[in-house]
Amino acid sequence: MPISVRRTVFAILVTSVAALATAAAALAGNGGFLPASPHSPNATRVTDAFIFVAVFTGMIFLLVEGALIMFIVKYRRGKRARTAEGPQIHGSTRLEIIWTVIPVLILTAIGGFVFYKLPGIADAPKAAAADQTTIDVEGHQFYWLFRYPNGAVSIDRMVAPADQVVHENIIGLPWDVNHSWWVPELGGKWDAIPGRTNKTWFDAPVGTYVARCAELCGIQHALMDGSVKVVPRAEYNQFIETRASDAGTMALGKEEWTGVCEKCHRLDHQYIGPALGGNPLLADRQGIEQLLQNGQTGTIGVMPAVGKNWTPHQIDALIAYTKQFAKKGTG
Ligand code: CUA
Repeated sequence: MPISVRRTVFAILVTSVAALATAAAALAGNGGFLPASPHSPNATRVTDAFIFVAVFTGMIFLLVEGALIMFIVKYRRGKRARTAEGPQIHGSTRLEIIWTVIPVLILTAIGGFVFYKLPGIADAPKAAAADQTTIDVEGHQFYWLFRYPNGAVSIDRMVAPADQVVHENIIGLPWDVNHSWWVPELGGKWDAIPGRTNKTWFDAPVGTYVARCAELCGIQHALMDGSVKVVPRAEYNQFIETRASDAGTMALGKEEWTGVCEKCHRLDHQYIGPALGGNPLLADRQGIEQLLQNGQTGTIGVMPAVGKNWTPHQIDALIAYTKQFAKKGTG
């Protein structure tokens, strides 16, 4: 094949591959190339910074890979002898200055942009006391526990007021392991490090946002997901009031069973831990409190102290729900 024909064939090949690759990405929309669409001012700034950096890294990628392909083609050995030496080049002052100055300018631009955006990511906007709330987020093996200002509790599903500043204390319990609280649409990842409390916030419209544990924290890490349900303030107030009262006991108990116990236990067969159906412990308040507070080393593994800091109301709620499984034949 003459060289000119070979070049044309090669050019067509490269162009088609590039067109196909970008078409696929374009068809897939976001396609996982960009962060989830932000629903909180801090998340918007994180996305802005991501895109700003991605533009530079994208251009550098194209430049480097393009040069690589060009050099491979243009300077291939062809018919030259295997031992033929190329021209020996020593230094190029102009080129060296260019490839020093341009990266310095790029890094300055990226650094400047990120430092400009950072305060709006880290600091919650000022809000009147009535227009903000604080929710504690505790990372446990293998569930998220949310504590609200009035003492109400929920598991794996946070309920929060809409269009207001919600402060989050991301709490790492001293007896637990590292977890990472991540609600992609509401901001970045926040580690729950044993013995420490990290603070973040969001201000989101009504909606349900997916939450994940983003730190490998043990055998059931993959089940440590949840959600943030953002509702109008009145609905939020009603939720936490009900939850803190006797009226919310069964709902809490069911959430504890599915969010905490069922991550490792089934009623009728051994799963990560032993089968629980028909176990009299499920109706024994003192016994279950002991187990939740201390955990257990059994024949098939270690059960962590999943309820070490649970309130009496939380334990009452669990028993109220689980006693139905304590009788023989419920497995
Ligand atoms: Cu908690 Cu992974």
